[in-house]
Amino acid sequence: MSAFRRDLFAGQVAVITGGTSGIGASTARCLAEHGAKVYAVGLGAEDTTFPQELDVEVREVDVTNDEHLVSLFAELERLDILVPAAGISLGDRELEWECFNRVLSVQLQAVYRTLDLSHDLLSRNGGTVITLASMYTFFGGGRRIAYSAAKGAVAQLTKSLAEAWAPDGIRVNAVAPGWIDTPLLATIEDQAVRNRLLSRTPMARFGEPEEIGKVITFLASDAASFVTGTILPVDGGYLVTGI
Ligand SMILES: NC(=O)c1ccc[n+]([C@@H]2O[C@H](COP(=O)([O-])OP(=O)(O)OC[C@H]3O[C@@H](n4cnc5c(N)ncnc54)[C@H](O)[C@@H]3O)[C@@H](O)[C@H]2O)c1
Repeated sequence: MSAFRRDLFAGQVAVITGGTSGIGASTARCLAEHGAKVYAVGLGAEDTTFPQELDVEVREVDVTNDEHLVSLFAELERLDILVPAAGISLGDRELEWECFNRVLSVQLQAVYRTLDLSHDLLSRNGGTVITLASMYTFFGGGRRIAYSAAKGAVAQLTKSLAEAWAPDGIRVNAVAPGWIDTPLLATIEDQAVRNRLLSRTPMARFGEPEEIGKVITFLASDAASFVTGTILPVDGGYLVTGI
């Protein structure tokens, strides 16, 4: 059972990048279950389905392709909720310049371009943005240097735009997921590393993508009407552990 009314977002429109998998897809589903019309955009759209009763439109959009993004937003007549959740990580290869740039182009440049293109639409109805930070916003990542650089920057971008866009009535917040069971987490194959992550998580499990979608629902709702510029950890307590 949901903590929120099912018609919470009735009449509202949401765009979720990375809406074709993991956290983005769960968020798309959660917002649609609460009445929003949702555009779930990303790669692999042809393999992505949502329950028929939900108002979710799936689109193939490469967030690093400016034409794709421009035509997506040009078509919208209103936008209330934006969640730029598209993401990749290339692990150790991020030390290589080309891979470093590739990760930054998805995880940082495209995040800002998505926000930039949505500003005017969001300002019409007092819209809201929820970005995806990470535990790497707070910690360094020696084996994911571009990913952690991007996630540090996304947090700063979130705080900065919260200030810059408050006069336009737009709230900008971030969730900082801990270790969430998605295809991205599956890129950590080393069982010893996975065990280490679990052993320092007080709740002793990986999170479910829905557990991020639910917090995004809260941040997008009127229950968070005075919340902007915050980076909200959703991590089973990972950040509070000292060792
Ligand atoms: N899973 C975790 O533990 C975790 C933790 C912290 C933050 N995050 C962040 O959450 C977000 C979603 O991650 P996830 O775990 O759901 O990953 P995922 O691999 O399940 O999904 C990634 C999504 O991004 C999309 N994508 C990748 N490159 C794209 C591109 N060029 N254009 C359009 N879409 C593109 C994919 O199509 C997919 O929909 C990412 O920003 C990630 O950094 C994840």
